[in-house]
Amino acid sequence: MKLVFHGHSCFEICLAQDNIIIDPWLNNNPQAKVRPEEINVSAVLVTHGHSDHLGDAIYIARNNNALLIAPFELASYCNNFGVRTHGMHIGGANRFSFGKVKLTQALHGSAVIEDKNIIYTGNPCGFILELEGKTVYHAGDTGLFGDMQLIGKNYNIDVALLPIGDNFTMGIDDAVQAVEFLRPKVVIPMHYNTFSLITQNVQEFVEKVKLCNCSEAIPLQSGNAFTL
Ligand code: NI
Ligand code: MN
Repeated sequence: MKLVFHGHSCFEICLAQDNIIIDPWLNNNPQAKVRPEEINVSAVLVTHGHSDHLGDAIYIARNNNALLIAPFELASYCNNFGVRTHGMHIGGANRFSFGKVKLTQALHGSAVIEDKNIIYTGNPCGFILELEGKTVYHAGDTGLFGDMQLIGKNYNIDVALLPIGDNFTMGIDDAVQAVEFLRPKVVIPMHYNTFSLITQNVQEFVEKVKLCNCSEAIPLQSGNAFTL
């Protein structure tokens, strides 16, 4: 299985039978090197309604006749645009053709902002994905929370995708604490350096994770992949 980073919080996961994509913000994403029309997937997973995550999800789902999987209210919003959706909620898991998806909590907001209207789209989430015998945790946008210890206890996480950008999510030190809670084999940082407000020295994160002695941090350039 291959995890391809498209910048910010967008990862495309290439499996033997299926490709899926998480938080596909590609248009207007200064880090993205791929266009929405180049994405071929059978499922689109979206953590919350903010434009840097919902991004091109509706377009990609429609273009591929792919299933859009999201927290229930956000899935209902997307359904209004003629997309096939599957709503879930935090704590719930479901098995799909490509693997198993469980929604975790994320401490954040979730809304679509259209002109001057704020349309709330329920709770934001993270995803625990069990794919081809491997476990991948995409935390979404979140602050640090103590129940990451439970996630770490209940799952042998192969790869954790954690935000480190600060301001809207965990910064480096909280993300290092999250690594200690989750104890993934590999952690790939995300949601940093996309714009100036979330600028981080990713090398500092790599060094601090080394000191945890439980995980290795592997930052990816946009367009690059991690194979597991
Ligand atoms: Ni957000
Ligand atoms: Mn965000």
